[in-house]
Amino acid sequence: MKLLGIETSCDETAAAVVEDGRRVLSSVVASSVEEQALYGGIVPEIASRRHIEAISGVVEKALADAGVTAQGVDAVAVTAAPGLIGALLVGVNFAKGLAFAAGKPLVPVHHLRGHVASLYLTHPGLAPPFLCLVASGGHCHYVRVDDYTHFTVLGRTVDDAAGEAFDKVARTLGLGYPGGPAISAAAQAGSPTAYTLPTPKAPGPYDVSFSGLKTAVMNLANQAAMKGEALDVPGLAASFQQKVADILTDKLMAAAAAAGSRTVCLAGGVAANSLLRQLAAEKAALAGLALKLCALEYSGDNAAMIAAQGYYEYSAGHTAGPALNAWATWPMEEDFSTSRQD
Ligand code: KG4
Ligand code: ZN
Repeated sequence: MKLLGIETSCDETAAAVVEDGRRVLSSVVASSVEEQALYGGIVPEIASRRHIEAISGVVEKALADAGVTAQGVDAVAVTAAPGLIGALLVGVNFAKGLAFAAGKPLVPVHHLRGHVASLYLTHPGLAPPFLCLVASGGHCHYVRVDDYTHFTVLGRTVDDAAGEAFDKVARTLGLGYPGGPAISAAAQAGSPTAYTLPTPKAPGPYDVSFSGLKTAVMNLANQAAMKGEALDVPGLAASFQQKVADILTDKLMAAAAAAGSRTVCLAGGVAANSLLRQLAAEKAALAGLALKLCALEYSGDNAAMIAAQGYYEYSAGHTAGPALNAWATWPMEEDFSTSRQD
C-alpha cells in the first residue's frame, strides 16, 4: 500500500511516498530555514508563504520521483497538528484538495507520532512496544509506544523544548540559527568542563526543564560582557551541550527502567546531535538495552515519517473528511477522530 505524505508544520515543505509504512519511494524537503536564519528564528508568516509557493512543486516531485501519480497512491496522509497554525493549514488544505480530487482517503497524522514513525524507516524490524525520546524544536517527550497508534507520555519538558534551548543559547552566543548544528560545531573546539552549569529541577521523575540552563548561559554571557572579559564560546557551547545530553539520556534510562522497556529510541531534530547519540549508546549498553537511533536524514522534519505513520493510522481506520481542521496543539495520545472546535 502506497501513501503520499505531506508535512508543513514548521519551516519545511515536505512530501514523500512510502510503501507499507516502511519503504521510502521518494522524499522531498524544501526548507525556508536560510531565510528564517536572517531573523534568528522562525517567522510564522514567512513559513506559511513559502509553503504556499513550494507545496505544488514539492508534491509533484515526490510523486514523480516515486514513479506514481496521485491516482496511483492509496491514501494521502497529512500533518494536522501540532505546529504553526498558518503553516499547517497550507498542507491540510492541499492534502484535502488532492485526496478528494483523486478520490483517495485522507489520513490526518500527529507530527510527533510521525517523528516516532521515522524509526520504522530506519529500522525495518522495529515494532512496538518501545520507549522513545522525541526531542525537536517544539517538543521534548518521553513516550512509551504501546503499539503503532497508542502512546503513553511518561514525561515532558515543563518549559523549553530541547531544540528550542539549543536555538536560544546559540542566539545568545552569536552562533546563528538553527542552534543545534551551530552549537554542536562550536563545541568541537571547546571543553565540556569549561563551565559548571546547573541541572534544573523538574516536577515529575521523567520531566525535564531547560529554562534555568538557558538563563545560566545568558547570565555568564552578560557577566563577561559587563566585565569586558572574553567569553569562551566553544567551551560554553560544549558545556551546555554536555549538560543537555546528560539530562536527556539520564531521563531516558530512568523512563526505560520504569516502563520496563528493553528497547529505547531517539527521534526528532535533536536526535541528530552526535553527543546525544553517543551518550545514549553508552548508557543503553551499560543498562543492557537495545538502542535504535533515527537516521540523520529522517531526524529533522520530513514527510516520509508522516506517510509511514499515516499507513498505521489508516490501518487503524483513522481517516478524515473534507471538514478536517488543523490545530496548533493536540495531545499525541489522542486520535483526531474526536471533534474539537479550537
Ligand atoms: O524535528 P525538527 O526538525 O522540527 C520540529 O519539529 O521542531 O527539530 C528542529 C530542532 C531545532 O531546534 C534544531 O536546533 C534542532 O532540532 N537540531 C539539533 C541538531 N540538529 C537540529 N539540536 C541539537 N543538535 C543537532 N545536531
Ligand atoms: Zn518535527
